[in-house]
Amino acid sequence: MTPLEHLNARLSIPGQLGFRANAEGLVFAEIDNAQATASICLQGGHVVTWQPKTEARPVIWVSSAAKFAPGKSIRGGAPVCWPWFGPHETEAGFPAHGYARTVNWEVTDSRALDSGETELALALVENEQTRAQWPHRSRLEILVTVGRSLKLNLITTNLGDHDFVIGEALHTYFEIGDIAEVRLLGLEGCEYLDKVENFARKRQEGGITFSGETDRVYVNTGAECVIEDAGLRRRIRIAKSGSQSTVVWTPWVEKAEKMGDMGPGTSGQGGWREMVCVESANALDNRVTVPAGQTRRLNVEYSVEPF
Ligand code: BG6
Repeated sequence: MTPLEHLNARLSIPGQLGFRANAEGLVFAEIDNAQATASICLQGGHVVTWQPKTEARPVIWVSSAAKFAPGKSIRGGAPVCWPWFGPHETEAGFPAHGYARTVNWEVTDSRALDSGETELALALVENEQTRAQWPHRSRLEILVTVGRSLKLNLITTNLGDHDFVIGEALHTYFEIGDIAEVRLLGLEGCEYLDKVENFARKRQEGGITFSGETDRVYVNTGAECVIEDAGLRRRIRIAKSGSQSTVVWTPWVEKAEKMGDMGPGTSGQGGWREMVCVESANALDNRVTVPAGQTRRLNVEYSVEPF
C-alpha cells in the first residue's frame, strides 16, 4: 500500500472525506458533505478553500496563481502563522510568519459529526530545521470543522519545562466581489499599528473601507468582525476567542504585481481585488506566553449570511 492508500484506508469517510495527492506530491483532504465543500492541504495544515452549499462562490479565497509545491507557502486559504508572526525578532534568515505553513502536518483523526459537519485533526510534524528554529518542546495541532460554518482551533501545547512566547495567526483570505466595495466592521475605536507607516500607532474611527495598500495590526481586541460585501451581496462573520489581535491586509495593485502569485481574478481584474485578509492573531503587543506543561487555543468561526 502507498502512504496515500494507507491514509485513505485509515481516515477517509465514504461520501464525505477523501485524500488525494497532486503531481508535486502534496496531499489534500477533500471534504464534500451536505453543508459545504473544503480542501485542506497537509503541508501547512492549511485550509485552501471552503464553500458552503448556500454560496455560489467560495468564502475562503485562493489565488488562481497559487503554487502548491513542497516548501512553498500557498497564496490564499487560511495559512497558519506560528510560532512567530511577521519577521523573526532576531534572525533575518528565518521564514516570515514562522515555519508552520511550509512544513508537513499529519492527520491524526477524522470524524463525521451528528450535526452533519466533518471534522479533521492535524498535527505539525517537526524536523531538524524546525527544531533548529524553535528550540522548545511543543506540539501544534489544528482542528478543522467543515459545515455551514468553518471552525478552526489552533492548539499549542508546551511539552517542555520552561515557558515560551509565541506569535500566531490564522491568516485567512476571504473572497469578496471587489476590495473597493467592501466595509469591515468590528474594529471601531481599536488601537492599531500601521505597517504601511512604519508601525505608527493610530486609532480606528468608524468602519474600514479600502482605497490603497492596507497592512494593520489591531491590538487588544477580541471583537467579532463582519465583512459587508455589496458586490457578492453577503456578510462574512468572523468570530474568535483566544485572540487579541486582528490583522487587516490588502496589498493593492503595486505590491500585488510584485508578489507574482496573486493571479488574475474572475473578471479579468487582478485577483487581489477579490480578496481581503482578516487575520485572527496574537501579534506584536499581544504575543502570548505558554507556560510549561500548558495548552492554549486560538479559535475562529467563520459564517456567511445574505446582505
Ligand atoms: C500580512 C502582513 O499578515 O501578511 C503583511 O501583515 C504581509 O505585511 C502579508 O505582506 C503577506 O505575507 P506573506 O509572507 O504571505 O507574503
